[in-house]
Amino acid sequence: MPGLPMRAVAAQVMQAVEQGQSLTQCLPPALKRLPENERPALQALCFGTCRWFFQLDDELNSRLKKPLKPADRLIHHLMLVALFQLRHSEQATYAVLNETVEACRRLDKPHLTGLVNAVLRAAEREGGPTARSDYERYAHPPWMVEKLRHNWPDDWAAILEANNTQAPMTLRVNARRFSRDTYLGLLTEAGIEASATHFAPHGIQLARPVPVDRLPYFEDGAVSVQDEAAQLCTTLLDLAPGQRVLDACAAPGGKTCAILEACEGLQEVVAIDESAERLPRIEENLERLDLHATVQQADAAQTNQWWNGNEFDRILLDVPCSATGVIRRHPDIKLLRRESDILPLASIQLGLLEALWPTLKPGGRLVYATCSVFPQENQRIIRRFLKQTTEAILLDLDVPWGRETEAGRQMLPAPNGHDGFFYAVLEKPEQ
Ligand SMILES: C[S@@+](CC[C@H](N)C(=O)[O-])C[C@H]1O[C@@H](n2cnc3c(N)ncnc32)[C@H](O)[C@@H]1O
Repeated sequence: MPGLPMRAVAAQVMQAVEQGQSLTQCLPPALKRLPENERPALQALCFGTCRWFFQLDDELNSRLKKPLKPADRLIHHLMLVALFQLRHSEQATYAVLNETVEACRRLDKPHLTGLVNAVLRAAEREGGPTARSDYERYAHPPWMVEKLRHNWPDDWAAILEANNTQAPMTLRVNARRFSRDTYLGLLTEAGIEASATHFAPHGIQLARPVPVDRLPYFEDGAVSVQDEAAQLCTTLLDLAPGQRVLDACAAPGGKTCAILEACEGLQEVVAIDESAERLPRIEENLERLDLHATVQQADAAQTNQWWNGNEFDRILLDVPCSATGVIRRHPDIKLLRRESDILPLASIQLGLLEALWPTLKPGGRLVYATCSVFPQENQRIIRRFLKQTTEAILLDLDVPWGRETEAGRQMLPAPNGHDGFFYAVLEKPEQ
């Protein structure tokens, strides 16, 4: 349907997310259907509605005498978008009401305009309901709240609250091009307020997000957008010239590029990813930054299909995970992730670690990383691996960030700071 109003498009995006698509998949084509000046607002509507979905959906269901017919489900999403605005934005109420009713008509559901109008007017008049549960209060799926409460008895509420905040935009300065101080100066000249990150040596956090084309020399490879916690992976690798490095789950290449920037004179960096769709992103990032890596599409766990027997000095294993440490940046995870995903993910994670260990040189180091806050994908994987692998040593990390777990270090998402991340560093003894 061409020419639909923005909020109707937002409802379509929400419907696609409910049907299992990620915002990364369904938002870009939706944005292209709108004039450029409306795109940031569409993005904000979709992110906000996902972020608060579990609160808004409960409220809407309690306001509807009976659920809408499956064929009218889009209008349910249209009302969720409007409720998000009423509860969590500064948008004027009359505009939300009028535009939503109009969008309902434009979506060929004129028979539902009365209902939409009545529901939203009542919502406006009566105000938001008092949360009846922690799921509603924190707007997370029940299983996630329970799992976090179990895993983090002292921190679960802070984690849930942090997940509902907006993540800052953080940059990694390309150390080959600029020092962090010099680039901070360029940002000041460009009128962009920013400060150095606390822990990552090349990180800069912006006071407010800006489009990348406003960043000085972005196209020339001066900086990349990368969270501070993600940047810290590189510092754990202890890179030195002459090393061969494997980035085993590399797409879109953020950490591959960070590795190459951090150390000139590496012998080779091999970047592998199994996703043919995501692989070109590695090449694009390398090209913009004028860096070189050997990029290969493969299932990293099938070493017989891609490994030539030449051992690596360093391995970064940034495994696929639940991404529960980056919910701020991907609020659709709340709708998409299922509790039943975690066990299969843990088995893939352990499988990758087991398969890649033989490719590490004696004396070499492997960094295992996830953007998860579930111990099941983090310290428990490392524990299980150490139990069965006598020739692996878990290193103590003497760093001023994160918190120690039984096997590795955990960063929890920090409001107006870094994402949630886990790291463990394993060393293979010299023979
Ligand atoms: C957490 S993301 C990696 C992010 C990346 N390291 C970065 O910093 O830009 C995990 C990646 O693992 C890839 N992946 C999942 N299973 C894999 C496998 N068996 N072999 C190789 N890559 C895999 C996914 O396609 C995804 O791109």
